[in-house]
Amino acid sequence: MLAVLLSWSPPVHAVSNGLARTPPMGWNSWNQVRCYDLTEQVVRDAADALASTGMREAGYHYVVIDDCWQAPTRAADGSLRPDPVRFPGGIAALAEYVHDRGLLFGIYAVPGSRTCAMANDGYPATGIGSLGHERQDAGTFEDWDVDYLKYDWCNADTVDGLQPQAAFAKMRDELARLDRPIMYAISEYGLSRPWTWARPVANLWRTTFDLQPEWTSVRGVIDQQAAVAESSGLPGGWNDPDMLQIGNGTLTDAENRAHFSMWAILNAPLFAGTDPAKLGAGDLETLTNTEAIAVDRDFAVAQGRRLAVSGAGEVWGKPLSDGGFALVLLNTGNTLTSISASIPGIWAVRDLWLHKDVGTADGTVSATVAPHSATMLRLTDR
Ligand code: GLA
Repeated sequence: MLAVLLSWSPPVHAVSNGLARTPPMGWNSWNQVRCYDLTEQVVRDAADALASTGMREAGYHYVVIDDCWQAPTRAADGSLRPDPVRFPGGIAALAEYVHDRGLLFGIYAVPGSRTCAMANDGYPATGIGSLGHERQDAGTFEDWDVDYLKYDWCNADTVDGLQPQAAFAKMRDELARLDRPIMYAISEYGLSRPWTWARPVANLWRTTFDLQPEWTSVRGVIDQQAAVAESSGLPGGWNDPDMLQIGNGTLTDAENRAHFSMWAILNAPLFAGTDPAKLGAGDLETLTNTEAIAVDRDFAVAQGRRLAVSGAGEVWGKPLSDGGFALVLLNTGNTLTSISASIPGIWAVRDLWLHKDVGTADGTVSATVAPHSATMLRLTDR
């Protein structure tokens, strides 16, 4: 298979709140505990484990509580409050605990009247959406020393008659009024093609529905990123193919490495969603592959793109800021596949999973790639 490297032109717009100069990294509760198992202890344990496993040093800085942290109703003054049984210490104390470990704290809210867990998990709450409370909720988050907000659509169009661009911009404007910088992650699953409009609105925007912890889903989400890459992220605003599922479900070590390689070449946000205290050696090694993370953080002119497809073999690549290239040779299929990419020039080649220099390429790189696996390479000009 031949991959022709196209010419790359930098995207035009830029977001302006100064955050997310590299794709954000951290831990989010949802893929680990979903809804009813979310407690302040789970969050404290995750913060402790990020610090003790080396994940914090690898860049996992944001500890984000997803849906189901809220009490079933607002307080008498209209403010949001945490579930008193699962968060007895309150959110401000939890944020402080996280900050004390050298980490940042994030929280979840929605623009409409209904959170996704109210719709999908039967979460027994009323009135906890931010609709009509945007300024008050932004203020509450500031009072709690929140550093990151995930703002999740959850059918706010059909339920509340909202329009995504306007609704997401409204909370952006409320956050902009605060003295505290709060990273802003929006999530509407790619329905209104946010990659075409969200750069001035948010620091990251979901491009797909929820990633599930099995290969078919990982492969499907990867496939969807090919079209989106044309409207690549830029420092400050990133396409988000959803949080990592490494450590969950049926994903094997090889599938996890392929998943991580792809998120890295796409400059995707990297949010672990498994218990960081219970990571197997393989999962921890994958999540803390600093050479792959360096590719995720390197933005030269564009995120990774799919350069060639032949059967189950795919070549994804992007230029790096040192004048080199990152390549992922991805085998999405069930049989061993030989994949090669044509790269004009002479390159020193490093394998980012073997952590080894593997020779020199003169115009072509090739690898035999196992099923559901990826070879990730860094090419440096010689
Ligand atoms: C949606 C989002 C998920 C998670 C849940 C919470 O499904 O896509 O990431 O936030 O809602 O209910």
